[in-house]
Amino acid sequence: MTETFYITTPIYYVNDKPHIGHAYTTILADVLTRFYRNSGADTFFLTGLDEHGQKVQEAAAELSIKPQDHCDKMAPRFMELWEKLHISNDDFIRTTENRHKEVVKNILRLVNDKGDIYEAEYEGLYSVSEERFITDKEAESEEFRDIKKLKEKNYFFRMSKYQHQLIKHIESNPYFIRPDYRKNEILGFLRKPLNDLCISRPKSRLNWGIELPFDKNYVTYVWFDALINYITAAGYNADEKNFKNRWPASCHLIGKDILTTHSVYWPTILMSAGIELPKSIFAHGWWLMDESKMSKSLGNIVNPIDLIDDYGVDPVRYYLMREMVLGQDANFTIDSFIQRYNSDLANDFGNLLSRVTTLINKNYDSRIPNPGILQEQELLIKSSSETLSNSVITMISEMRLNEAIEEIMQFIRSVNKYMEKNAPWKMIKEDKVNAGKILYTAGEALRIGAILLSPVMPKRISILLDILNCEKINYSWGGLKPGNIIEKHDPLFPRIK
Ligand code: MSP
Repeated sequence: MTETFYITTPIYYVNDKPHIGHAYTTILADVLTRFYRNSGADTFFLTGLDEHGQKVQEAAAELSIKPQDHCDKMAPRFMELWEKLHISNDDFIRTTENRHKEVVKNILRLVNDKGDIYEAEYEGLYSVSEERFITDKEAESEEFRDIKKLKEKNYFFRMSKYQHQLIKHIESNPYFIRPDYRKNEILGFLRKPLNDLCISRPKSRLNWGIELPFDKNYVTYVWFDALINYITAAGYNADEKNFKNRWPASCHLIGKDILTTHSVYWPTILMSAGIELPKSIFAHGWWLMDESKMSKSLGNIVNPIDLIDDYGVDPVRYYLMREMVLGQDANFTIDSFIQRYNSDLANDFGNLLSRVTTLINKNYDSRIPNPGILQEQELLIKSSSETLSNSVITMISEMRLNEAIEEIMQFIRSVNKYMEKNAPWKMIKEDKVNAGKILYTAGEALRIGAILLSPVMPKRISILLDILNCEKINYSWGGLKPGNIIEKHDPLFPRIK
């Protein structure tokens, strides 16, 4: 049996208003899943919500409602956005679900039985917004506004015990943390002694959390709780068969800001619990607005809903996937969006479609002409379509998504050049057979390019494939069927003025 491609997004804070950052990671996971699904892999795509912690408790208190009711009220905003963005997730986990609370308690028991949890009095600087104790050095930086001195008894996880095992794991598994420079960052961090992790909060201070199975006066620290979602949804302790197929996850997709929790806290928790580590953690960069970080205080947060209302879902997906070099930051501007849309989608892609279909509709009774005998130029396009599908698959597995998209567009551009060079619109009157061959070749090349792009723009490509009335999944040459009727259509990507 082929193993499952299991990909996860971070679970988002239920309290947040969904923004472009959430949308980006989720679209990226969706695109990768669709690529693997199209090439026949068994896939499992998880996203969800992080619902415990101080901020939720405070927001609910302000509204004088129960935290759970607050979560239930907020959760649909994410679910509705995912539907709008054509996200094809297989599961949606919320950390307040029983299935998850059971697993967290289970892991806490395991780790405790192993002797990896101890009680200690701790005095230190505490950041309310981050919900954790911070170091003196961190306190000096300007990142933390709401710091107070706090002394309390808590439970600690012996993270330090696994430091060397973790370093060894990272060093011997080059794909465990990607990109490479993030791996080096973590190895650098692990060169210094690793502290143990405070994993509890006294209920007197915070009660919106999962109660510790060994002390009812405490709840679980929200990150310890949240990370475990990845095994809950895979079926840990509930469905052995699923768990065996899905775990270890193929890829935890995260933003660079949550790298330490994922590549230090999470693997050491799994080591203590005796569970295999995920195969890979991939940290992407941030979307910036005018080169600076998007933030509430700057008021420059891009709302994905506004964008898709104005320009359509698939063009927005295309832009986000094409513009960001995975791992690095990227700058978001409406101008670059419009430029990208007009040059790639309206010009290169949309033009090829409308040239082919208009000529076929006018001159061949809307029926796809015969391919005839392929000559040098056509054989070249055919063979480059084969090279293209192979290199796209390789690039996807190496997370070079923007390059894969660019290769597909280069191919489309080369087909446009072929059309211009041979000008079937001129040839049609004297030599309908040869003109038909050119249109068939261009249409078939477009079909293959379109299928390769379909994970990025699932809805528009599906419309395109309906117009061409052809094979929708297979990208080997010949899926366009001579004699099939071409549908009349509006421009697929009308130019933005
Ligand atoms: N709840 C935690 C994750 C727990 S996972 C076990 C959390 N949630 S979050 O709602 O803050 O979402 C974080 C995700 O959104 C991160 O991956 C973060 O990098 C991403 N983004 C937030 N703003 C972003 C941009 N401007 N650009 C790209 N992604 C960014 O952290």
